[in-house]
Amino acid sequence: MDIKFRQLEKWFGTLHALKPLSMTIQSGEFVSLVGPSGCGKTTLLRMIAGLEDPAEGAVLFDGKPVFDKDKKINVPPQKRKIGMVFQDFALWPHMTVFENVAYGLKATGRKREVQDKVTEALNNVQLGDHKNRYPHQLSGGQQQRVAIARAVATDPEIILMDEPLSALDASLRDEMRILLQSLVKKLDMTAVYVTHDQSEAMAMSDRIVVMNAGEVQQTGTPEEVYQRPNNDITASFIGKGTLIDGLVIEVEDVPMLKVSADVQIPLSSSKTKGLEPHDWVHAIIRPEQVVLDTSPSETGINGIIETVSFLGERYEVSLKLDDCDERLFAYTYEKTVPGQEASVTIRDTIHLIQHRGGVSHEETA
Ligand SMILES: Nc1ncnc2c1ncn2[C@@H]1O[C@H](COP(=O)(O)OP(=O)(O)OP(=O)(O)O)[C@@H](O)[C@H]1O
Ligand SMILES: [Mg+2]
Repeated sequence: MDIKFRQLEKWFGTLHALKPLSMTIQSGEFVSLVGPSGCGKTTLLRMIAGLEDPAEGAVLFDGKPVFDKDKKINVPPQKRKIGMVFQDFALWPHMTVFENVAYGLKATGRKREVQDKVTEALNNVQLGDHKNRYPHQLSGGQQQRVAIARAVATDPEIILMDEPLSALDASLRDEMRILLQSLVKKLDMTAVYVTHDQSEAMAMSDRIVVMNAGEVQQTGTPEEVYQRPNNDITASFIGKGTLIDGLVIEVEDVPMLKVSADVQIPLSSSKTKGLEPHDWVHAIIRPEQVVLDTSPSETGINGIIETVSFLGERYEVSLKLDDCDERLFAYTYEKTVPGQEASVTIRDTIHLIQHRGGVSHEETA
């Protein structure tokens, strides 16, 4: 089932919690909403569910409005046939696992199917043999799996998840992420997933919607928003890297970006289309585009290593450049120490952001 927003908008008093948004989430797509706290992720999710009334616009499921301001349509949440999973699990403490999962089915009047459906849902989250336990007899991860079983037991075509993994510890999160991803695909659901963990969004999603202050900044595949952010907000929110101001000093023979009196970065000619010498741009330099050399260079870019973090198979190093106030990140397999001098080469694949603060919407209708 696809989900379409048409000029969807929300105000809380004078706060513009969602600026007019038009976009389509395709049937079977896994879409994550990411952005800083308070940017409107939960509000948008609640409007899909029918738990929050939009101020303007429409929400359509497979072309049929479940909310339309102009036509005065507002389908109540229980009739929208969606499954929801929340951060705090929200299980009934006085009900067993079976009863918790059965609750939604009974509420929709499908009593005869209950036994089969609950068993199937619990098997899907590998909790088939825990059905007589109470929530307090389960671990956090098991409780969240019950919440997921409850959400899918009614065969929803849309599943909405609001930070479902953030209450779990890191190793459990990885395990649950895989379970959720495969379950969503297996049951062929359209998923809208809220997280402020951008790495989780990149790992799980077909497409990411980056939000800030009630406004969608960019929608795209994880690769698109990481490699080609269209503004500073997306560039700094998604992935690690340094945003740096620079002056384009050559666009044809050897394209170059000058970021300080002594620091120039080569640019790939594919990145300079539409640019002219003397244009100011922002560049996003990712750690994998910075090659660190522990010997200072006569002609290259030099700096001092500030921090060294061991990541398991390699190190992440931050380097303060000598000639300007900027700090770059790099990955290296060689152990280095803070205070050590080093030089860097920056690959010409860095991405340039030409229109500062530009906002791109997938559709405008
Ligand atoms: N019922 C409400 N009444 C007034 N303001 C609200 C209400 N619900 C949310 N807001 C405000 O709307 C904005 C968006 O809130 P929302 O909960 O959607 O943010 P979020 O992106 O989910 O943040 P977080 O990552 O912290 O969960 C915030 O400024 C919030 O304070
Ligand atoms: Mg929220």
